[in-house]
Amino acid sequence: MTERCDLLITNVHAATMDPSVSGAYGAVEDAAVAITGGRIVWLGPRRELPHCAADHNIDGEGGWLTPGLIDCHTHLVYGGHRASEFARRLGGESYTEVALSGGGILSTVRATRAASAEQLYRAAEPRLRALLAEGVTTVEIKSGYGLDLDTELKQLRTARRLSQHYPVAITTTCLAAHALPPEYEGRADEYIDLVCEEILPAVAREQLADAVDMFCESIAFSVRQCQRVIDCARGLDLPVKVHAEQLSRSGATAMAAGASALSVDHVEYISDEDVAAMAASGTVAVLLPGAYYTLRETQRPPVETLRAAGVCMALSTDLNPGSCPIASLRLMMNMGCNLFGLTPAEALAGVTRSAARALGMCCSRGALRPGLRADMVLWPMDTPDQLAYEIGALQPAQIFFGGRDVTAG
Ligand code: NIG
Ligand code: FE
Repeated sequence: MTERCDLLITNVHAATMDPSVSGAYGAVEDAAVAITGGRIVWLGPRRELPHCAADHNIDGEGGWLTPGLIDCHTHLVYGGHRASEFARRLGGESYTEVALSGGGILSTVRATRAASAEQLYRAAEPRLRALLAEGVTTVEIKSGYGLDLDTELKQLRTARRLSQHYPVAITTTCLAAHALPPEYEGRADEYIDLVCEEILPAVAREQLADAVDMFCESIAFSVRQCQRVIDCARGLDLPVKVHAEQLSRSGATAMAAGASALSVDHVEYISDEDVAAMAASGTVAVLLPGAYYTLRETQRPPVETLRAAGVCMALSTDLNPGSCPIASLRLMMNMGCNLFGLTPAEALAGVTRSAARALGMCCSRGALRPGLRADMVLWPMDTPDQLAYEIGALQPAQIFFGGRDVTAG
């Protein structure tokens, strides 16, 4: 490290989440963290800090610094809401029954097609703000409520526009294969032709997506149809993610692992063989306890088997108007522990290091380590266990995005 830095934080403990630092959370107690040019340039025990003149000094007041949180699976840009379906489900109808009666995803498709780009943007803002207030510094946003070229582009452009006005990195994913639009009823293969021949190439041309996703389920698309989308994405040099085994076992996880997908998301119904395939391919399992909770599912993802196999487990909100209208990643950490059996340290890894990996971004973020972006949150807490345990009152003391203090006033 050079003798000067932009920012120096001391009187702080660091939950580095760096696997090369031993112990839970990769903790460095009584740490010093030096930042220059938006990146961490030094992190270690304060007593080992080389001489460093800082432009700004921050006293962490004995709190804990964590990586900025990463929400790696959201559908945050959409029109309308589905409060009436919530009431129907409480009355006993299932998510699948609501979907098959023309509601569900298709109800949001109608509202999203009808909304202007400006209306979509304004509707998305409070959801994004709620995440940012919790210390989220990177958010993935999927399309998938357009299901036609213009509306898919409108959703992705809106997602990108959010990052121009808020201190957050936004990655976008094209989920055109989310549901069959009504104008293609009975012609699912022809819709997949449209996705592969028009929508994905146009999205790639405009560089509007960082990845391609699909929903493999009886109420969406088959393994064979999803394989076509995967082949198309690979041809366009885009990494792949799959919504799989949420409501039933389709076999999509094995297909996704075979294609070296970045992640398979939901995974409630995966088998032991699926877990082995994910371990072999390094595919991340993205756990979505908010959807499990909202839909009052009873089939838990096999966390013990995933853990034993060494599969990386990320946690995310799945923020969407149907299966999880909950804009709180912190609550997902709590649910990940209480509903799925994660440890608090696994929950924090799930929204930092593992979430970065699910986005193919672990070279730039997800841990506190020299060379990585200085996306960081300072928490007024005694132990990082409090992050999954305590909801509501424990709020970030300071949030840094690329080394810049972006704490909301
Ligand atoms: O991840 N599973 C498919 N897609 C979303 C739900 C979308 C919706 O219901 O609007 C999910 O749960
Ligand atoms: Fe989802």
